[in-house]
Amino acid sequence: MAAPIRTVTGCCPAAWRFVRAVCPRSHYTQSHGKETHFGFQTVSEEEKGERVYRVFESVSQNYDVMNDSMSLGIHRLWKDWLVRLMHPTPGTQLLDVAGGTGDIAFRFVNYIHAQREKRIRNELNLQQNLSWSDISRSYSQEQKGSLMGSQAVVCDINKEMLKVGKQRSLSLGNTEGLSWVAGDAEELPFADEKFDVYTIAFGIRNVTHIDKALEEAYRVLKPGGRFLCLEFSQVTNPLVARLYDLYSFQVIPVLGEVIAGDWKSYQYLVESIRRFPPQEEFKEMIEDAGFFKVNYHNLTSGVVAVHSGFKL
Ligand SMILES: C[S@@+](CC[C@H](N)C(=O)[O-])C[C@H]1O[C@@H](n2cnc3c(N)ncnc32)[C@H](O)[C@@H]1O
Repeated sequence: MAAPIRTVTGCCPAAWRFVRAVCPRSHYTQSHGKETHFGFQTVSEEEKGERVYRVFESVSQNYDVMNDSMSLGIHRLWKDWLVRLMHPTPGTQLLDVAGGTGDIAFRFVNYIHAQREKRIRNELNLQQNLSWSDISRSYSQEQKGSLMGSQAVVCDINKEMLKVGKQRSLSLGNTEGLSWVAGDAEELPFADEKFDVYTIAFGIRNVTHIDKALEEAYRVLKPGGRFLCLEFSQVTNPLVARLYDLYSFQVIPVLGEVIAGDWKSYQYLVESIRRFPPQEEFKEMIEDAGFFKVNYHNLTSGVVAVHSGFKL
């Protein structure tokens, strides 16, 4: 494997920015063949994009219920963990790419709300001789901008997934600070340096050119911004790995057929997980895209990993 460009530039953000400015993209990314993988099959790059689109179009209506069934609800804990690690503060501008039906964005909004309530309680606690009307006034003033300028943009290539997400947001009454944008992770429809945080949860393994998606993440983040990726990864414990393989290949496609009448899409999901690079390799790819202080945390023995990096 070629040495990562970052080894040449060392740990100096300025040197890395210089390389990015003078080298055309093709000089520092891996070359793109015309063929790629779709699960365990070899297909043309064009066909992969179309087939991934069809998978998510087909699963969109059952996506949320299938996530709960396949992971026994554990995906909720992994996503909660990601948002706690992000620890967004009021005013944070989040871009959630491959955001699907909005799981990360809803958690982000709820986290900001919880932060705000905590802040009001702390401030009220510090004051003495408060009357009931003081307390009520304090809450109603805060209510005006309850997200305090924070925004989450959910961007996904698949219009059906976004449609389900928007419906969900309406039925939850959770629309403030949320927007839904159709777009490709490899060519994001946003200006440079617009966001404080970029997240991608269970999305990047579906993208045809992961390096392009990472470059786009870098481009749209403000200096100081954070990249966070939650993705299936390599299980570290051999016993857990055996059980996980059995469960993935023997149970998940069956669940897909029984619950959603769609064996093939869930077979793809399982296969695509096995094709995704292991933790250390993905860390290097993130560094090659220009991010600094890249690290990762394994969750559930590495069934998933959260990679984090900063644009400095
Ligand atoms: C497994 S879902 C994850 C959805 C959501 N992030 C979650 O964690 O529940 C993967 C999502 O990636 C989206 N996706 C696939 N390729 C994409 C691309 N090139 N650009 C943007 N989104 C993409 C799919 O449409 C799908 O909604």
